[in-house]
Amino acid sequence: MTAEFASFDALRIEALACTRCPLAPTRTQVVFGVGNEHADLMFVGEGPGADEDRTGEPFVGRAGKLLTSLIGDIGLTRADVYIANVVKCRPPGNRDPHPVEIDACRPYLEAQIGFIAPKVVVTLGNFATKLLLDTKVGITKLRGSRQPFRDGAVVIPVLHPSAVLRNGGAALAQARADFVVIRRALAESS
Ligand code: URA
Repeated sequence: MTAEFASFDALRIEALACTRCPLAPTRTQVVFGVGNEHADLMFVGEGPGADEDRTGEPFVGRAGKLLTSLIGDIGLTRADVYIANVVKCRPPGNRDPHPVEIDACRPYLEAQIGFIAPKVVVTLGNFATKLLLDTKVGITKLRGSRQPFRDGAVVIPVLHPSAVLRNGGAALAQARADFVVIRRALAESS
């Protein structure tokens, strides 16, 4: 149990009906999160895009396919890990989430992390990294590093898969190297 929610199901039910921020009226559905609720490895992205808004599942579009393939490269499947976002509703036109939206959605993410209690939290891109590490340092500096997090867990920031798709070859090599760091951190944590 976390401070605000009696159970993971109670958390999900409340999030799915959320009207706490200006994204609620324009979403098709809340994209709560997916995967193993007892995972050692959790990914946190930025926010749903059009495909996720339509299907209700995070990272199912082009960026999601790349994420799924990088997860496969370290010997895991989507069912082994948990995948969530900083904001759970699609910002219109895929704009960046606004601070008021991030603040309103934060208790859901914090409670997800609290219930799942992952050993490794991978932040995908700047929004998740800055939020969870409470830093202004950007992803290009932090990517691939292990950052101390709460309860003995670590945060490993990696490039957002959309940025990897945009930037191509060198960025893909960096992402692959960062996933090796993730695999090692997981092995050392068990
Ligand atoms: N980008 C994100 O940050 N999250 C998703 O769920 C999809 C794309």
